[in-house]
Amino acid sequence: MTILVTGGAGFIGSNFILESLKNDDEKIINIDSLTYAGNLENLDSVYGSKNYEFIECDIADTKKVNSVLEKYKPNSVINFAAESHVDRSILGPEKFFQTNVIGTLKLLDAIKQFFINLDESDKKNFRFIHVSTDEVYGSLSTIEPAFTENNQFKPNSPYAASKASSDHIVRAYNHTYNIPCIITNCSNNYGPFQFPEKLIPLIIVNAIDLKPLPIYGKGDQIRDWLFVKDHCAAIKSVLKYGTVSNTYNIGGNCEMKNLDVVLTICNILDDMVPRKDGKKYDELIVYVKDRPGHDIRYAVDSSKIKKKLSWEPKVNFNDGLMETIKWYMSNNQWLANIKDGSYQDWITKNYSNRK
Ligand code: NAD
Ligand code: DAU
Repeated sequence: MTILVTGGAGFIGSNFILESLKNDDEKIINIDSLTYAGNLENLDSVYGSKNYEFIECDIADTKKVNSVLEKYKPNSVINFAAESHVDRSILGPEKFFQTNVIGTLKLLDAIKQFFINLDESDKKNFRFIHVSTDEVYGSLSTIEPAFTENNQFKPNSPYAASKASSDHIVRAYNHTYNIPCIITNCSNNYGPFQFPEKLIPLIIVNAIDLKPLPIYGKGDQIRDWLFVKDHCAAIKSVLKYGTVSNTYNIGGNCEMKNLDVVLTICNILDDMVPRKDGKKYDELIVYVKDRPGHDIRYAVDSSKIKKKLSWEPKVNFNDGLMETIKWYMSNNQWLANIKDGSYQDWITKNYSNRK
């Protein structure tokens, strides 16, 4: 089985590759254009493995993607490649539409050319899995039921709008050209290798450095947290057993207010590495200007994937968070290599807007 992964040098893609390569009978081809979020260090442990190949390539480069498809003849493609950070989409939306919309379209064009020439049995077994987000459904009030696959699309941020558009393109390519596609819509992930611009790694990294812990608004927005390895397992189930033309929601069944997430991290650190000055980590919390159009609440109803594919999250939030914090604490070099000029530029740009 050969899988072409796009965006495999990012957070979820690299976790997926590392998990998949534990299984000997899979070969992974990773194409990634190595934006600021792509980091080949994530994949150091599989570099040179006979089952793994990396090719620097933009998903919007139809010709190059097509040549990769022709060379490796994958049985399936999993599309992780995207611009993924909501705050960046607010400050500069265009890139999001280039990669998430045009990129997905061009990738599908390359796949269409490849797919047409497959024989009937390879066509039947081929899968295109599009990894998308719960944010396409918009925002819930605190009393509304969690998102199901039947919720209307109501994306609020430029990021969410670009992902919603990409989901529609995938649907159209499935319907019109019969490419066997499946879409997954997942909630907030956390775990090793996440770029420290997102809430959980940013708070861990700032706390370790005794820097301010920024909370947007009052910190009462709610997210549904899922450990990244559980997400990877869900994608694997969808790839193996999912029904073509279907959408599967994937959630952590773990709704938490942002402030509670930050306090949980602080409490774990108070036990694990007490501050030398005798203070508590939560004294570093600062409330900053809110995200424009900030979605109040995401919550995902995963009953379809549980019922149809027997998938459910295995890692509880405290265990996953503990593993994540330990990972960041023992990977100083990975962090030091990330915190270069462009990371600092982003932090300055994002947080100076919030004073
Ligand atoms: P990430 O930002 O960490 O990684 C994205 C990867 O895509 C990077 O390696 C980057 O170099 C690559 N990339 C970007 N543009 C590209 C292009 N034009 N061509 C090729 N490669 C390109 O993102 P992530 O958090 O790992 O998210 C992966 C996917 O999962 C995204 O599609 C995202 O929308 C979706 N998702 C993420 C979460 C989450 O909580 N992180 C939750 C649900 C869904
Ligand atoms: O729901 C799935 C989505 O989750 C994915 O599709 C996105 O790719 C991923 O980035 C994530 O989006 P969020 O905007 O929910 O994640 P983020 O980590 O940026 O923020 C989580 C919450 O924490 C959100 O309510 C904003 C808040 N926040 C974030 C940062 C970076 C803060 O309060 N302070 C911060 O410094």
